[in-house]
Amino acid sequence: MKGVVLAGGLGSRLYPLTKITNKHLLPIYDKPMIYYPIQTLVDAGIDDIMIVTGGNSAGDFLKLLGNGKEFGLKHLNYTYQEGNRGIAYALSLVEHFAAGELICVILGDNILGGSIKSAADAFSKQGKGAKLLLKKVHDPHRFGVPRLDGNKILKVDEKPANPDSNFAAIGVYFYDSKVFEIIKGLSPSERGELEITDVNNHYIEQGEMTWDELEGWWSDAGTVDSLLYATNLVSRTAGKKSEMVPDEFSS
Ligand code: G1P
Repeated sequence: MKGVVLAGGLGSRLYPLTKITNKHLLPIYDKPMIYYPIQTLVDAGIDDIMIVTGGNSAGDFLKLLGNGKEFGLKHLNYTYQEGNRGIAYALSLVEHFAAGELICVILGDNILGGSIKSAADAFSKQGKGAKLLLKKVHDPHRFGVPRLDGNKILKVDEKPANPDSNFAAIGVYFYDSKVFEIIKGLSPSERGELEITDVNNHYIEQGEMTWDELEGWWSDAGTVDSLLYATNLVSRTAGKKSEMVPDEFSS
Protein backbone atom coordinates (compact mmCIF):
# COMPACT_ATOMS: atom_id res chain seq x y z
CA MET A 1 0.00 0.00 0.00
CA LYS A 2 1.24 3.47 -0.87
CA GLY A 3 0.80 6.56 1.31
CA VAL A 4 -0.28 10.09 0.44
CA VAL A 5 -0.03 13.14 2.70
CA LEU A 6 -2.14 16.08 1.55
CA ALA A 7 -0.40 19.26 2.67
CA GLY A 8 -1.57 21.97 0.29
CA GLY A 9 -4.25 24.60 0.72
CA LEU A 10 -4.14 28.12 2.02
CA GLY A 11 -4.89 27.43 5.69
CA SER A 12 -7.10 30.51 5.72
CA ARG A 13 -8.77 29.52 9.02
CA LEU A 14 -5.38 30.11 10.65
CA TYR A 15 -4.70 33.59 9.27
CA PRO A 16 -2.42 35.43 9.96
CA LEU A 17 -0.36 32.38 11.05
CA THR A 18 -0.51 31.04 7.50
CA LYS A 19 -0.19 34.34 5.64
CA ILE A 20 3.45 33.67 4.72
CA THR A 21 3.94 30.00 5.50
CA ASN A 22 2.19 26.70 4.92
CA LYS A 23 -0.13 25.41 7.67
CA HIS A 24 1.65 22.04 7.73
CA LEU A 25 4.97 23.66 8.65
CA LEU A 26 3.56 25.23 11.84
CA PRO A 27 4.65 23.64 15.11
CA ILE A 28 2.67 21.05 17.02
CA TYR A 29 4.57 20.95 20.31
CA ASP A 30 8.14 20.02 19.33
CA LYS A 31 7.77 19.16 15.65
CA PRO A 32 6.40 20.68 12.44
CA MET A 33 2.80 19.55 11.85
CA ILE A 34 3.62 17.41 8.81
CA TYR A 35 5.91 15.15 10.85
CA TYR A 36 2.91 13.60 12.56
CA PRO A 37 0.96 12.29 9.54
CA ILE A 38 4.19 11.02 7.95
CA GLN A 39 5.04 9.15 11.17
CA THR A 40 1.50 7.73 11.28
CA LEU A 41 1.98 6.22 7.82
CA VAL A 42 5.47 4.92 8.58
CA ASP A 43 4.25 3.33 11.84
CA ALA A 44 1.60 1.51 9.80
CA GLY A 45 4.33 0.00 7.64
CA ILE A 46 3.72 2.33 4.69
CA ASP A 47 7.05 3.56 3.35
CA ASP A 48 6.35 4.66 -0.22
CA ILE A 49 4.91 8.12 0.40
CA MET A 50 3.91 11.08 -1.76
CA ILE A 51 3.52 14.56 -0.28
CA VAL A 52 1.16 16.87 -2.13
CA THR A 53 1.90 20.46 -1.25
CA GLY A 54 1.04 23.89 -2.57
CA GLY A 55 0.29 27.41 -1.41
CA ASN A 56 2.95 29.23 0.60
CA SER A 57 6.46 27.90 1.21
CA ALA A 58 5.97 24.78 -0.91
CA GLY A 59 9.75 24.49 -1.46
CA ASP A 60 10.38 24.38 2.28
CA PHE A 61 8.98 20.83 2.53
CA LEU A 62 11.94 19.55 0.56
CA LYS A 63 14.35 21.49 2.80
CA LEU A 64 12.62 20.19 5.92
CA LEU A 65 12.04 16.56 4.96
CA GLY A 66 14.56 15.75 2.25
CA ASN A 67 14.37 12.03 1.52
CA GLY A 68 12.73 11.27 4.84
CA LYS A 69 15.84 10.03 6.66
CA GLU A 70 14.43 11.14 10.03
CA PHE A 71 11.56 8.70 9.51
CA GLY A 72 13.82 5.86 8.44
CA LEU A 73 12.81 6.33 4.81
CA LYS A 74 15.15 6.12 1.83
CA HIS A 75 13.00 8.27 -0.41
CA LEU A 76 10.07 10.70 -0.38
CA ASN A 77 7.99 11.81 -3.37
CA TYR A 78 6.63 15.32 -3.81
CA THR A 79 4.09 16.95 -6.07
CA TYR A 80 2.71 20.47 -6.33
CA GLN A 81 -0.94 21.50 -6.12
CA GLU A 82 -1.91 24.76 -7.81
CA GLY A 83 -4.74 26.78 -6.31
CA ASN A 84 -7.18 25.73 -3.62
CA ARG A 85 -9.54 23.30 -5.32
CA GLY A 86 -10.24 20.87 -2.53
CA ILE A 87 -8.98 17.65 -0.98
CA ALA A 88 -10.29 15.42 -3.78
CA TYR A 89 -8.61 17.60 -6.40
CA ALA A 90 -5.30 17.37 -4.51
CA LEU A 91 -5.69 13.60 -4.42
CA SER A 92 -6.26 13.45 -8.19
CA LEU A 93 -2.64 14.59 -8.63
CA VAL A 94 -1.23 11.32 -7.32
CA GLU A 95 -2.82 8.99 -9.89
CA HIS A 96 0.51 8.27 -11.61
CA PHE A 97 2.18 7.64 -8.23
CA ALA A 98 -0.52 5.21 -7.05
CA ALA A 99 -0.08 3.23 -10.26
CA GLY A 100 -3.05 0.96 -9.59
CA GLU A 101 -2.12 0.09 -5.97
CA LEU A 102 -4.19 0.59 -2.82
CA ILE A 103 -3.52 3.93 -1.12
CA CYS A 104 -3.80 5.36 2.36
CA VAL A 105 -4.46 9.10 2.26
CA ILE A 106 -3.90 11.25 5.33
CA LEU A 107 -4.66 14.94 5.66
CA GLY A 108 -1.53 16.82 6.70
CA ASP A 109 -3.28 18.48 9.64
CA ASN A 110 -4.53 15.27 11.25
CA ILE A 111 -2.64 14.33 14.43
CA LEU A 112 -3.20 10.81 15.76
CA GLY A 113 -2.22 9.39 19.12
CA GLY A 114 -2.94 5.80 18.13
CA SER A 115 -1.97 3.56 15.27
CA ILE A 116 -3.71 2.92 11.95
CA LYS A 117 -1.78 -0.29 11.35
CA SER A 118 -4.68 -2.66 12.06
CA ALA A 119 -6.94 -0.61 9.73
CA ALA A 120 -4.26 -0.63 7.02
CA ASP A 121 -3.83 -4.40 7.36
CA ALA A 122 -7.60 -4.91 7.26
CA PHE A 123 -7.86 -2.79 4.12
CA SER A 124 -5.05 -4.74 2.46
CA LYS A 125 -7.10 -7.89 3.11
CA GLN A 126 -10.26 -6.15 1.87
CA GLY A 127 -8.28 -5.54 -1.32
CA LYS A 128 -10.71 -3.13 -3.00
CA GLY A 129 -13.24 -0.37 -2.34
CA ALA A 130 -12.60 2.06 0.50
CA LYS A 131 -12.36 2.34 4.27
CA LEU A 132 -13.03 5.23 6.65
CA LEU A 133 -11.85 5.74 10.21
CA LEU A 134 -14.39 7.20 12.62
CA LYS A 135 -13.85 8.83 15.99
CA LYS A 136 -16.38 10.07 18.57
CA VAL A 137 -16.09 13.84 19.02
CA HIS A 138 -17.96 16.54 20.94
CA ASP A 139 -18.13 18.90 17.93
CA PRO A 140 -19.17 16.74 14.94
CA HIS A 141 -20.58 19.73 13.02
CA ARG A 142 -16.94 20.67 12.17
CA PHE A 143 -16.33 17.44 10.25
CA GLY A 144 -17.67 14.88 7.84
CA VAL A 145 -20.30 13.03 9.90
CA PRO A 146 -21.45 9.48 9.09
CA ARG A 147 -25.06 8.35 9.19
CA LEU A 148 -24.89 4.88 10.70
CA ASP A 149 -27.42 2.08 10.88
CA GLY A 150 -25.77 -0.33 13.26
CA ASN A 151 -22.51 -1.22 11.55
CA LYS A 152 -23.69 -0.05 8.16
CA ILE A 153 -22.63 3.38 6.94
CA LEU A 154 -25.40 5.02 4.94
CA LYS A 155 -23.92 8.42 4.03
CA VAL A 156 -21.40 11.04 5.12
CA ASP A 157 -22.68 14.60 5.62
CA GLU A 158 -20.02 17.31 5.30
CA LYS A 159 -20.16 19.73 8.24
CA PRO A 160 -23.90 19.26 8.95
CA ALA A 161 -25.71 21.84 11.08
CA ASN A 162 -27.59 18.98 12.78
CA PRO A 163 -25.21 16.01 12.90
CA ASP A 164 -26.78 12.57 12.69
CA SER A 165 -24.19 11.01 15.02
CA ASN A 166 -21.35 12.15 17.26
CA PHE A 167 -18.76 10.49 15.04
CA ALA A 168 -16.35 12.37 12.80
CA ALA A 169 -14.84 10.85 9.67
CA ILE A 170 -11.20 11.57 10.43
CA GLY A 171 -8.81 12.61 7.68
CA VAL A 172 -7.43 9.12 7.01
CA TYR A 173 -8.90 7.37 3.98
CA PHE A 174 -8.14 4.04 2.32
CA TYR A 175 -8.96 3.75 -1.38
CA ASP A 176 -8.46 1.45 -4.32
CA SER A 177 -7.44 2.86 -7.70
CA LYS A 178 -11.06 3.50 -8.72
CA VAL A 179 -10.82 6.67 -6.65
CA PHE A 180 -9.25 8.53 -9.56
CA GLU A 181 -12.15 7.77 -11.92
CA ILE A 182 -14.58 8.80 -9.19
CA ILE A 183 -12.81 12.16 -8.76
CA LYS A 184 -12.95 12.78 -12.52
CA GLY A 185 -16.75 12.55 -12.27
CA LEU A 186 -17.12 15.04 -9.38
CA SER A 187 -18.48 18.58 -9.64
CA PRO A 188 -17.28 21.38 -7.38
CA SER A 189 -19.31 21.97 -4.21
CA GLU A 190 -20.86 25.31 -3.23
CA ARG A 191 -17.48 26.40 -1.86
CA GLY A 192 -15.94 25.63 -5.26
CA GLU A 193 -13.99 22.56 -4.15
CA LEU A 194 -13.93 18.87 -5.08
CA GLU A 195 -15.02 17.31 -1.77
CA ILE A 196 -13.54 14.13 -0.32
CA THR A 197 -16.98 13.50 1.23
CA ASP A 198 -18.45 13.18 -2.29
CA VAL A 199 -15.80 10.54 -3.06
CA ASN A 200 -16.71 8.65 0.12
CA ASN A 201 -20.43 8.80 -0.63
CA HIS A 202 -19.75 7.35 -4.05
CA TYR A 203 -18.07 4.30 -2.49
CA ILE A 204 -20.93 4.00 0.03
CA GLU A 205 -23.51 4.02 -2.78
CA GLN A 206 -21.56 1.26 -4.52
CA GLY A 207 -21.61 -0.79 -1.29
CA GLU A 208 -17.82 -0.73 -1.18
CA MET A 209 -17.16 1.28 1.99
CA THR A 210 -16.12 -0.23 5.31
CA TRP A 211 -15.22 1.64 8.48
CA ASP A 212 -13.32 1.15 11.73
CA GLU A 213 -13.37 3.16 14.92
CA LEU A 214 -9.99 4.75 15.59
CA GLU A 215 -8.36 3.84 18.88
CA GLY A 216 -6.47 6.52 20.78
CA TRP A 217 -6.85 10.25 20.54
CA TRP A 218 -7.15 12.27 17.38
CA SER A 219 -7.36 15.94 16.49
CA ASP A 220 -7.25 18.06 13.39
CA ALA A 221 -5.17 21.23 13.61
CA GLY A 222 -6.72 23.49 11.01
CA THR A 223 -8.19 26.13 13.31
CA VAL A 224 -6.58 28.17 16.08
CA ASP A 225 -8.43 26.19 18.76
CA SER A 226 -7.71 22.76 17.28
CA LEU A 227 -4.05 23.71 16.75
CA LEU A 228 -3.78 24.49 20.46
CA TYR A 229 -5.77 21.37 21.40
CA ALA A 230 -3.54 19.12 19.26
CA THR A 231 -0.43 20.75 20.71
CA ASN A 232 -1.68 20.11 24.24
CA LEU A 233 -2.49 16.48 23.42
CA VAL A 234 0.98 15.88 22.02
CA SER A 235 2.70 17.69 24.91
CA ARG A 236 0.90 15.51 27.46
CA THR A 237 1.63 12.27 25.69
CA ALA A 238 5.10 13.00 24.28
CA GLY A 239 7.15 9.83 24.41
CA LYS A 240 4.15 7.60 25.18
CA LYS A 241 1.84 8.25 22.29
CA SER A 242 0.10 4.91 22.29
CA GLU A 243 -1.49 5.62 25.65
CA MET A 244 -4.80 7.38 26.13
CA VAL A 245 -4.60 10.95 27.36
CA PRO A 246 -5.95 12.12 30.71
CA ASP A 247 -9.72 12.52 30.88
CA GLU A 248 -9.61 16.26 30.47
CA PHE A 249 -8.30 15.81 26.91
CA SER A 250 -10.41 12.95 25.69
CA SER A 251 -13.46 13.95 23.71
C1 G1P B 1 -11.85 17.73 6.05
C2 G1P B 1 -12.98 16.87 5.49
C3 G1P B 1 -13.88 16.38 6.61
C4 G1P B 1 -13.07 15.64 7.67
C5 G1P B 1 -11.92 16.54 8.17
C6 G1P B 1 -10.98 15.75 9.07
O1 G1P B 1 -12.40 18.91 6.55
O2 G1P B 1 -13.69 17.62 4.53
O3 G1P B 1 -14.88 15.51 6.09
O4 G1P B 1 -13.90 15.25 8.74
O5 G1P B 1 -11.14 17.05 7.08
O6 G1P B 1 -9.94 16.56 9.56
P1 G1P B 1 -11.55 20.29 6.58
O7 G1P B 1 -10.74 20.23 7.84
O8 G1P B 1 -10.70 20.33 5.37
O9 G1P B 1 -12.57 21.38 6.61
